[in-house]
Amino acid sequence: MTAPACDLSTSYLGLELRSPLVPSASPLGRDLDTLKRLEEAGAGAVVLPSLFEEQIEHEEFELHRLLSSGTDSFGEALSYFPELADYRTGPDDYLEHVAAAKAALSIPVIASLNGVTPGGWTRFARLLAEAGADAIELNDYQVAADPMLGAAVVEAGVLDLVRAVRAEVTVPLAVKLGPHFSSFSHLAAQLVDVGADGLVLFNRFVQPDIDLETFEVRARVQLSTPDELLLPLRWIALLHGRLDCSLAGTSGVHSSLDALKLIAAGADVAMSASALLRHGPGHLAELLGGMATWLDEHEYVSVAQLRGSMSQASCPDPAAFERAGYMQALVSYTPRRG
Ligand SMILES: Cc1cc2nc3c(=O)[nH]c(=O)nc-3n(C[C@H](O)[C@H](O)[C@H](O)COP(=O)(O)O)c2cc1C
Repeated sequence: MTAPACDLSTSYLGLELRSPLVPSASPLGRDLDTLKRLEEAGAGAVVLPSLFEEQIEHEEFELHRLLSSGTDSFGEALSYFPELADYRTGPDDYLEHVAAAKAALSIPVIASLNGVTPGGWTRFARLLAEAGADAIELNDYQVAADPMLGAAVVEAGVLDLVRAVRAEVTVPLAVKLGPHFSSFSHLAAQLVDVGADGLVLFNRFVQPDIDLETFEVRARVQLSTPDELLLPLRWIALLHGRLDCSLAGTSGVHSSLDALKLIAAGADVAMSASALLRHGPGHLAELLGGMATWLDEHEYVSVAQLRGSMSQASCPDPAAFERAGYMQALVSYTPRRG
């Protein structure tokens, strides 16, 4: 008799998913056929690429300009967004895409909203839910560069934003954040208090580079490498069991083992973008197959059995996730001779 297949199902944001692998927001989600291929490959859910605050505000500026017959008082403001006029996915297209994805797929569809400044655009969350999104991922992508803005002010801004979006929708709300907060666990707990059902850790920042030939600043998206997994791995291990919310790990998931490590740390789902962009949507089936094989070989009957077994609360060396890991790593480093 063959052993029963391992149960890969998981619960994320209160949604029941058939597998813990979720393609995170990326251009792969723009195309309906690609979304279907990701579903066929075994994705538990899909996150659509973000709709940006600027895109929504831009549309509102346009509308206002057309309505204020002949006057071009918004001309200067519009000039901030020249490229957005050509951007393929405006707010209306995005809503149509959510509805089409929902109709075409049987797995949950998570819409993503990106923005940081409070404003009318947060109302759009409701339209996304009405278009059929099973959940909203709020992508908080900001670089706190103003020396006059302290950490408390920045964090209060994030919390206000989550409150504003939460007030618009009853569907589950996940918050995707970068790692640059001084007391991350405290902020995470407050995000749950103001209504986040899940945290997506961590957003990767586009890091601008300087071209010394042209003296231009170049901001290009680079695909991730597997060593970037270690940042979300640590924080998911630290937070698992301490917050009443789902946890998703994103950054550096390139192999089955990467995804399994995140789950052992305590993630409900492992998200992937770079690996799928590099190898195509079919790669997801390979990742999932590798996970199932590993779990079977190690006699796990379910993903749930692995989840959190290496979180800080459960692992044999909890100090390794904090400062002690730093000291041990430095002291035990042996320099090469010669
Ligand atoms: C080309 C590209 C486009 C992306 N677009 C979005 C986006 O629209 N919204 C978002 O929240 N994250 C976006 N991301 C970030 C990914 O969803 C993911 O969180 C990040 O790349 C780390 O995961 P990875 O190591 O698997 O790539 C994008 C990433 C890439 C590479």
